[in-house]
Amino acid sequence: MSSDPKGAMPTGEGVSGPPEFFTPDRFAGQNVLITGAAQGIGQAVAHRIAHENGSLFLVDRAEIVHEVAAELAEVTTGTVGSATADLETWEGAEAMVAAGVEKLGCIDVVINNVGGTIWAKPFEHYTPEEIEKEIRRSLFTTLWSVRAELPALIDNGGGTIVNVSSVATRGVNRVPYAAAKGGVNALVSALALEAAEKNVRVVATAPGGTLAPARKVERGPGPEGEREKEWYQQIVDQTIDSSLFKRYGTLAEQAAPIVFLASREASYITGTVVPVAGGDQG
Ligand SMILES: NC(=O)c1ccc[n+]([C@@H]2O[C@H](COP(=O)([O-])OP(=O)(O)OC[C@H]3O[C@@H](n4cnc5c(N)ncnc54)[C@H](O)[C@@H]3O)[C@@H](O)[C@H]2O)c1
Repeated sequence: MSSDPKGAMPTGEGVSGPPEFFTPDRFAGQNVLITGAAQGIGQAVAHRIAHENGSLFLVDRAEIVHEVAAELAEVTTGTVGSATADLETWEGAEAMVAAGVEKLGCIDVVINNVGGTIWAKPFEHYTPEEIEKEIRRSLFTTLWSVRAELPALIDNGGGTIVNVSSVATRGVNRVPYAAAKGGVNALVSALALEAAEKNVRVVATAPGGTLAPARKVERGPGPEGEREKEWYQQIVDQTIDSSLFKRYGTLAEQAAPIVFLASREASYITGTVVPVAGGDQG
């Protein structure tokens, strides 16, 4: 969610200046690829890892990812590169990994963050084309990315895969998105079984509704008529009701557990999806 239509909560925070919390040098010597890094949670994660002196390869479909990379190159002591790719395609995912390895030499950590609900409506109102688009956006982006990244991690002696899922696997008015994120969760638990012997950890966070500045790149058309606005409002209401704190999370609150799971501190955690939603377990 990019804003709170009720105006009942603080406005979303940006990602300028140093983060409130960070661990100096935790990512020094680590090469981290982040998808969907042009804005939102992906940008917040990149910002924090830059402050922890990681090397970054930032990928997005939107050209503004290059601006984010240029800013963070001024922050980290590591190397920063960026590329545009459409991760709803296998070709995009393959090209992303090749470009990342070329820029950084090897990849230690990948954070697959692309996704997001495009429409908000009861399932019977989705067209077949819309359902396919939701699955492409929120499952295939991760499935293709992980398939393309895995050989690079294995060739490098191991590594870490962090996927960004959602607690909306139990959410109203977005069944196709929920199904896609349920697929992401299954990928985490099943791949962790196979990949442990190759020294690859596979984990995820499942964010709840998150406050952020207005999106520069929109996910879709947005609610148009009164009926669509009401369906969207039902999502907002459920998000607040199911949080024990009765509020949205912040970008920093989402970035923190992603960055921890991505770090070497989390070396004994694999196959786990961590809900980050004020007590909503998804
Ligand atoms: N924001 C929330 O409230 C929330 C809640 C739960 C889960 N999540 C999950 O967190 C992740 C990030 O969410 P966000 O709100 O920060 O995202 P966002 O919509 O603000 O940004 C997503 C980024 O991904 C890029 N992108 C979209 N499709 C792409 C494609 N095919 N190829 C390459 N790049 C593409 C966009 O250009 C954009 O920069 C998503 O997976 C989302 O499902 C978000």
